[in-house]
Amino acid sequence: MTRGAGLIADCHLWQALDSRGDPTVAATIEIGSASGTALAPAGASAGSHEALFLRDGGSAYGGRAVADHIARVQERVRAAVIGVDAADPWAVDGALRALDGDDRLADIGGHVGTAVSIAAWLAAASAQGVAPWQLLVGATARPPTLPLPMVNIVSGGAHAAGIIDIQDVLCVPVGAGSFAEAIEWCSRVRAGTRAVLAEAGFATALIADEGGLAAPFASDDDAIAAVVEGIARAGLQPGSDVAVALDVAATECFAGGQYRMAGQRVSSPEFVDRIRQWRQRYPLVSIEDGAAEDDDEGWALLAELRPETQVLGDDRYVTSPQRVLRGIERGEANAVLIKPNQAGTLARALDAIVAASGAGWASVVSARSGETEETWLADLAVGTGAGQIKVGSTMRSERTAKWNRLLWLEQTAGLPYAGRAALARG
Ligand code: PGA
Ligand code: ZN
Repeated sequence: MTRGAGLIADCHLWQALDSRGDPTVAATIEIGSASGTALAPAGASAGSHEALFLRDGGSAYGGRAVADHIARVQERVRAAVIGVDAADPWAVDGALRALDGDDRLADIGGHVGTAVSIAAWLAAASAQGVAPWQLLVGATARPPTLPLPMVNIVSGGAHAAGIIDIQDVLCVPVGAGSFAEAIEWCSRVRAGTRAVLAEAGFATALIADEGGLAAPFASDDDAIAAVVEGIARAGLQPGSDVAVALDVAATECFAGGQYRMAGQRVSSPEFVDRIRQWRQRYPLVSIEDGAAEDDDEGWALLAELRPETQVLGDDRYVTSPQRVLRGIERGEANAVLIKPNQAGTLARALDAIVAASGAGWASVVSARSGETEETWLADLAVGTGAGQIKVGSTMRSERTAKWNRLLWLEQTAGLPYAGRAALARG
């Protein structure tokens, strides 16, 4: 990363809208005649240890506005970052954390930290006349690659009015030889699954927050089985061409020490046992948040799914290097989801990738359910060599913006495709 190429001359925060139509924080950073703008995404199934997303309350946007918050912090944030080297994410992180003092950015908010730190990165790239991914090369000691995509086919949980308990059934095009082929296969699987659902009498025009199909399945099992059938319907081999991944988002099903499962209340071992059975029945290569964020017993049981399966932590690690290191010590997983706005700054997200790869864990750069039309997440995945990316479906423009950026980079940047080797094993 080339430093010293431009000090932040100005920083402006403003209220924008995310893909759900909710207000979010945008930042525009200026360096001489160059500038960069970034919007913070927002989760619906946010973990309780994430950097905070502070909303105004009151009447504007049903209490979800951020304009008053911006007015409260604008001048202090501006003063803190002016003069900081925009090409140094750790310097920007240091300035923001010195201003806030709280690990979860309880004063300025993770949305402000995310928007400012990403905008600084984009402004620095623009000032240096390079693509954003190029500025990150070296930051994680991993070579840049085009990531293996993990694509949402069927949605449930907090992204689809709770019609099934688990949040996402995704496909992973493990047999594809290029990023373009991978996306085409996922698009075909979505169409194949849609045909399977239409034949079963479900309405298929309604889509969930991330563009997934949202049908009122009788059970989680039926949803997984429909995606496996959709892979075959697409003319692809379930398992060897296209495998299946789940985001159980188990924190959303957990209350009072028990899980809600198909209308019943069950223990951690019972909940994890159902995942084990799914793995025997379906070609599953990755399980995300198979236990709730603070359920140590559940995570210890999930560890037994390794090494064949990618055991991926989202709410468990909230893109925090310290939490990733604790997970590594416990030996409970082998992969971490990377969401910059969980960390609150770009630098902390980079540190989480470094912590993961130091132990041979995989990293999956991820969008949120409340996304934006921006493309920097694709550059983050490429420049850090993360190896995997999860953005939602192959439709909805806030999703396709990222896929299209990667399709363009595959055409023009001469980057290798990470492919199935990026999946965690171990
Ligand atoms: P969220 O969902 O953005 O609503 O948290 C994405 C995920 O859980 O991976
Ligand atoms: Zn998740």
